[in-house]
Amino acid sequence: MQLDPANIPKHIAIIMDGNGRWAQARGHIRIMGHKAGVKAVKAIIETARELGLPVLTLYAFSTENWNRPQDEVSGLMNLLKNYLQSELDAMLKNDIRLRAIGDINGLPADVQDVLHSTIERTRHNKALTLNLALNYGGRNELLHAIREIAAQVGRGDLQSEAITEELVADHLYTSGLPDPDLLIRTGGESRLSNFLLWQASYAELYFTETAWPDFDKTCLLEAILAYQQRQRRFGRTGEQV
Ligand code: IPE
Ligand code: IPE
Ligand code: MG
Repeated sequence: MQLDPANIPKHIAIIMDGNGRWAQARGHIRIMGHKAGVKAVKAIIETARELGLPVLTLYAFSTENWNRPQDEVSGLMNLLKNYLQSELDAMLKNDIRLRAIGDINGLPADVQDVLHSTIERTRHNKALTLNLALNYGGRNELLHAIREIAAQVGRGDLQSEAITEELVADHLYTSGLPDPDLLIRTGGESRLSNFLLWQASYAELYFTETAWPDFDKTCLLEAILAYQQRQRRFGRTGEQV
């Protein structure tokens, strides 16, 4: 397996799915799968750093995930908080900048606190932007952008003709980040589940049966290799590319 170091994606986004089924298949409760999922997150971040990947977005909690049983939701929030607290030193050491996308104000106050302080303490780091999608929904994000833009038009600060694709992108939670080149979903489902609806318009999609807790360094390298074997045409013909 030979990766082309000149063709590493600028941004990989991952729908980390399959934790619950992974645990249940082993006779464990679902939260055990989420715990195992945190280990996989650490390994994938390490690989991302080794590869020199600039941006990694991880879908950790969707706007729809509030509909899960309450103990699972609180278990996930606790894991998130513990993860952020325990990984701060590693983020500082490995030059990782944390960022979050989603309706962050809707998260529990204690999670918001560690999230804000981790973002603040890692803000000057440059090697990898680790972008966590938390209480994230693509439709919610677009709605939020539309409201902001509409308010500017309503105040007379913006002409509707001045609303461009770039302006819309600037009002998304991902403002300033490149669109994902590669979007991976683990766990066997082939759907977006409300993830990066605007930004993924030209992402290469990669679906794998592997459950997130089993998704290791080799799996990520395989996904990038598959990406490198694709021809991205952006509407052109193969001859033009
Ligand atoms: C993904 O794993 C993690 C989150 C959604 C937080 P799931 O918990 O959805 O695992 P499955 O799909 O039930 O196996
Ligand atoms: C998507 O997984 C959300 C995250 C990975 C955080 P889900 O397991 O919630 O997706 P659906 O409900 O099966 O589409
Ligand atoms: Mg799932």
